[in-house]
Amino acid sequence: MLQRKEIRLDLCDPFINDNPRRWSFMEQESIQTYYEHDHDRLDEGFERYRRLKRENFAEAKQSFKTFFFGLKRHILWEEEILFPMFEDKTGMRDAGPTAVMRMEHRQIESLLDALHGKVRAGNPESDIEEEAILRILKPHNDKEESILYPHIDAHLTADEKRLVFAGMEGVPENRYNTCC
Ligand SMILES: [Fe+2]
Ligand SMILES: [Fe+2]
Repeated sequence: MLQRKEIRLDLCDPFINDNPRRWSFMEQESIQTYYEHDHDRLDEGFERYRRLKRENFAEAKQSFKTFFFGLKRHILWEEEILFPMFEDKTGMRDAGPTAVMRMEHRQIESLLDALHGKVRAGNPESDIEEEAILRILKPHNDKEESILYPHIDAHLTADEKRLVFAGMEGVPENRYNTCC
């Protein structure tokens, strides 16, 4: 959990603030700070969906979309921009920590698709699917936050981190914001 996230929330959140100047703010961030904040933001969207789905499905669905599209974007950022930078620097690819994270991403996506099917059908009876996602997503995020991101921060120069954030900015929305 980050201590400073309250003051960063709307500055860092592209769903709330689409001002492109946010990226110059992001350049001040460590990889760990930014990615942990994104984990927290996604967790909040998912928890809100779970809390509201039997009371107000339309509102719950908005929170699901924040979680669903945001998680797809987060995985895309990691796999296409962040991890390759780390892999190039360290030479750790097929047997390193990012290989394990990529494998877990495939499991998360498959579970997410099952839940997405229920949400699309307007069916709130998805506790089993949600719990299955949490069983893998929570330890996955913990491993990234406690091991991988600190490692990445230690290996990348400030210029390389700026390249990561610039690459994240360049990912078009239609790569992750599809259907619901
Ligand atoms: Fe991940
Ligand atoms: Fe992550």
